[in-house]
Amino acid sequence: MTKPDLLMTGPMMQTIQDQLAQRFTVHKLWESADKEVFLRQLAPSVVAFASGSHVPCDPALMGRFPGLKIVSSFGVGYDHVDAAWAGQNGIVVTNTPDVLNEEVADTALGLLLCTMRQLPQTDRYLRAGKWLEKPYPLTGTLRDRKVGILGLGRIGKAIARRLEAFNLPVVYHGRSEQPDVPYRYYPSLVEMARDVNVLLIVAPGGAATNKIVNREVLEALGPDGIVINVGRGSVVDEVALVKALQDKTILSAGLDVFEDEPRVPAELIAMDHVVLFPHVGSASVYTRNAMAQLVVDNLVSWADGKGPLTPVAETPWPPKA
Ligand code: NAP
Ligand code: 8YV
Repeated sequence: MTKPDLLMTGPMMQTIQDQLAQRFTVHKLWESADKEVFLRQLAPSVVAFASGSHVPCDPALMGRFPGLKIVSSFGVGYDHVDAAWAGQNGIVVTNTPDVLNEEVADTALGLLLCTMRQLPQTDRYLRAGKWLEKPYPLTGTLRDRKVGILGLGRIGKAIARRLEAFNLPVVYHGRSEQPDVPYRYYPSLVEMARDVNVLLIVAPGGAATNKIVNREVLEALGPDGIVINVGRGSVVDEVALVKALQDKTILSAGLDVFEDEPRVPAELIAMDHVVLFPHVGSASVYTRNAMAQLVVDNLVSWADGKGPLTPVAETPWPPKA
């Protein structure tokens, strides 16, 4: 039996490559000597993509493949895929929700603690031999803090549960109030920022959230305020954030995501009062394996005629008539 043709848009975990090779003829875009020729030759036959955030899956790319039916994307965030366009053109998009909730929530709490208690800085202090001279200065605290979550979704709720165990009050902002959650809802992000002293961002990227954490929000958060971002770098106006940190409009920030990854502004790197992670929210072997398996399982289930397992909201399955 001939295997369907699949385009892998960038390097993916070995287990994804190995498992997909059993069911599909896998074409690796990044290994092609001439991408233009490669894409032109494959255009008539490719029915599936396996993709990560390395290459945008935009209409310019997807539109070259008239037989394309499914894009299986690695990661729960899929702002690199034009899912609305895919839906309008009969292509289902899948992502990897839920399997990473707990890992990313763990990382978010770790980042919050690191930022508040300056834990990476204390490690650097010891290694530099400074403890021999005098104790590390006292730090700020999580006590008496209130956390405003921007994006109380699957991961946001896992974060909120952890914050409850820390005895910290939680409130949230999103596009709509959720009836079944015990936390106060703020229809206005600025109003929420004014009432909290930790703004924890775990909202998706994309046009609707682009730079919604702007100068006004940072001013509302105020000089005792901390920004933690494990969502997407694009949600924050990074220039405004750098300025707010420089002029002490806010106290500090802990960032796992950035506007132009893996490039991080030199101004942020130069600041000792911020904590910077290289987008490691889900990056454990256990969780990345679970995400990889879901990328594969979506494609295999679709190829078996059973439909994709985790289609995104813009491309419901079965497709609406
Ligand atoms: P989710 O369940 O879809 O939750 C997203 C939340 O964001 C929802 O509560 C939604 O509430 C809110 N939201 C969506 N659009 C919004 C808007 N325009 N304005 C305000 N709020 C908005 O997604 P998830 O699984 O929790 O993942 C969230 C995001 O985390 C991903 O999209 C990804 O970007 C990021 N992420 C990062 C890492 C990392 O390694 N750092 C790992 C995994 C995920 P409403 O619908 O009520 O607006
Ligand atoms: C991954 C993520 O690091 O799932 C997401 O949305 O941001 C992370 O889990 C990313 O997808 C890997 O490229």
